[in-house]
Amino acid sequence: MSESSVRPRSLLACGLPLPPPPLPAPGALEQARLLVAPSLDAGLVRELERITGRRAEPLTDVPPPSDAPLFCVGDALPDALRTDRLLWFHSVNAGTDPLLAAGPWPASALLTRTVGRMGERIAQYVLGWMLAEAQSVPEFAEQHARAHWERLPSELVAGQTALIYGTGRIGAAVGRLLAACGVRTVGVARTTRYGPEPGTDRTVPPGFDRVIGASEDTEALGEARWVISTLPLTAATEGFFGAARLAAVRGSTFVNVGRGATVDLGALETALREGRVRRAVLDVLPVEPAAPEDPVWRLPRTVITSHSSGITTDEDVLGDFTAAWESVAAGRRPELTVDVVRGY
Ligand SMILES: NC(=O)c1ccc[n+]([C@@H]2O[C@H](COP(=O)([O-])OP(=O)(O)OC[C@H]3O[C@@H](n4cnc5c(N)ncnc54)[C@H](OP(=O)(O)O)[C@@H]3O)[C@@H](O)[C@H]2O)c1
Repeated sequence: MSESSVRPRSLLACGLPLPPPPLPAPGALEQARLLVAPSLDAGLVRELERITGRRAEPLTDVPPPSDAPLFCVGDALPDALRTDRLLWFHSVNAGTDPLLAAGPWPASALLTRTVGRMGERIAQYVLGWMLAEAQSVPEFAEQHARAHWERLPSELVAGQTALIYGTGRIGAAVGRLLAACGVRTVGVARTTRYGPEPGTDRTVPPGFDRVIGASEDTEALGEARWVISTLPLTAATEGFFGAARLAAVRGSTFVNVGRGATVDLGALETALREGRVRRAVLDVLPVEPAAPEDPVWRLPRTVITSHSSGITTDEDVLGDFTAAWESVAAGRRPELTVDVVRGY
């Protein structure tokens, strides 16, 4: 499915908050059958079997016979399993928008996700592209191809400002790495958090010099040398980087490692052609993979990478599943629980 068409169907049309799904009861989890995506590595499946103490069965379009409750580890949930038999789905991916968009989420099912070391990988990807630009790597490679010797300027990223959309697991890892290089980091989040005492200032998570809300980013967009998005795709973030927001940019390089459909590519093209966006690095696109004839390949001063900045490893899945399993067993909500109403 193309990401441009995804929209979490679980958002209530009337906007009323839903209570979070209850944790799977220990008794029910005890009896539940474990279904795993056929794409999972055999070694990972053996570890999941060891941790959960049961045999794994393939996660397919056909639910296993019997009324036994189910819990799954995978990347997609067939319609036939979107029933109240489902206790828990652990996503092998960090972004759960395709799971939520593919059908109604069963009200009683817990959804958890894998992040693992993706934040570190993505942070290094972002820093790598920033330094490549600051050190004129593409220009030197091009000069080398022509056996041409010429000094080129370089920029120090220390002291420059990066505006980082999303201050969650990925955004915070990006913020911490950039801050360690002396970059000034301004985070953009959905929720404004204040200290515990009444009247206290906004809470600023590690890795950020300050955090602002999405509705107060115009000035920051005009000041940032780097605009980096780690936003999830939700009903609120689809087309988030549109004409109005990009009109405020004054020479930033735009790096998107969140989700492709958060960007209006037509508006980005205009901003690139008008020079307001200096360059773009897009790891994620509204439609992946982009076909050779897709006009996205012809965006000026843009590099597209293949949704590979934050690959998931088996260790990531195992580590986050195990932590979630232990939390559920202890009656605690796992840290990587997805709020299916909010959409991330
Ligand atoms: N390129 C890749 O290979 C790759 C790999 C992994 C993940 N990803 C993408 O990265 C996304 C983020 O992952 P994560 O683990 O960092 O998620 P997360 O921990 O849930 O953090 C999401 C952040 O986005 C903010 N946000 C959500 N909606 C917003 C809005 N409307 N306006 C402003 N801020 C908003 C949240 O604000 P609050 O703090 O206020 O809630 C939060 O800070 C994933 O959903 C996935 O799409 C990409």
